[in-house]
Amino acid sequence: MKFETLATDGAARAGTLQLRDAKILTPIFMPVGTQATVKAISQDDLEEIGYRLILGNTYHLYLRPGAETLRQAGGIHKFMSWPHAVLTDSGGYQAFSLSKNVKLKDHGVIFRSHLDGSEHIFSPESTISIERDIGADIIMPIDDCAPYPADDKRLKESLARTHRWLAECKKYWLREPRHQHLFGIAQGGVNPLLRADSAKACADLDLPGYAIGGLSVGEPLEYYVPSLAAAIEHLPKEKPRYVMGVGTIPELLNGVALGVDMFDCVLPTRNARNGQVFTSVGKVNLRNLKHAQSDSPIDPECSCKVCKKYSLGYIRHLHKQNEILGLMLSTYHNLYFMHGFMRQMRHAIQAQNFEQFRTHWLRLFAPV
Ligand code: GUN
Ligand code: ZN
Repeated sequence: MKFETLATDGAARAGTLQLRDAKILTPIFMPVGTQATVKAISQDDLEEIGYRLILGNTYHLYLRPGAETLRQAGGIHKFMSWPHAVLTDSGGYQAFSLSKNVKLKDHGVIFRSHLDGSEHIFSPESTISIERDIGADIIMPIDDCAPYPADDKRLKESLARTHRWLAECKKYWLREPRHQHLFGIAQGGVNPLLRADSAKACADLDLPGYAIGGLSVGEPLEYYVPSLAAAIEHLPKEKPRYVMGVGTIPELLNGVALGVDMFDCVLPTRNARNGQVFTSVGKVNLRNLKHAQSDSPIDPECSCKVCKKYSLGYIRHLHKQNEILGLMLSTYHNLYFMHGFMRQMRHAIQAQNFEQFRTHWLRLFAPV
């Protein structure tokens, strides 16, 4: 994996990440494909939009179809017929958010499946072994993401565990690194000093890239920038930086302004399925009665195939009737929008007018 910065504007940077067959342009947004599918869109359409890196979840894939099935299939790429790059998140975070009776132990996370109640453990060793079977290009270590709010005692415990697990994950990864790249995950809640400590501890392990976790866990908006800034200051410039589970348009703009290169979030796909689409004039709620007779596209400025062909009024009707095509069309549009938005960010950085770009879009997507 080779990461290069091509242009900077303030702390914002535009670069390339060489993975598998592709030169991936950064900053990049990764659609979430939890169960080896990005919901309501085909691999062909993802490819057509221009996506070359998507995310999968170890927690779900381990439970179903299971690591052995993925290994037998020759890895997730072959299994889902996606020849481009994949990143897998580790299972710990989802075990916490989805399963019952989770127990955080020093050697790993013990949890019961949300599907059938069976008991499992994710440890550094089992996480790396499962991620090896899944076969993603970028793999994430098991970490301890403290909830919000968490006091400093809990946050320090989270750091100790996260750093120890990261060192162990590195050891198991190095036994057979193949073509997989292990990132570190820095934690630290909303305490900038702990954010800095965690970033330093991760950077000391000299990994191919670094993520910032524990954000977007319910903390007030104003903590996002200081927490992120404190971590980034201690992450090496020459490695990619990834903010996990983020985000909204303002979070992407503010993250890129601080020097973040990678993001993933369910927002564009989940919102699309709930009838909310992103447009050049802000968010639009498809289910709104005022669109019932609209014969314009979702976004007249958008050149996606959905906006070229279908009217807002028709897509609204599909959503109101819970028709599957409604989910598909709005998902395609939102992912096309996100891909274009990231490309515009890169161009703004290259043209040295990122600040102007950021101000423009912050106004359109101001949090309400
Ligand atoms: N996804 C969103 N936040 C996190 C985090 O803190 N850790 C992991 N592993 N995944 C995440
Ligand atoms: Zn469109």
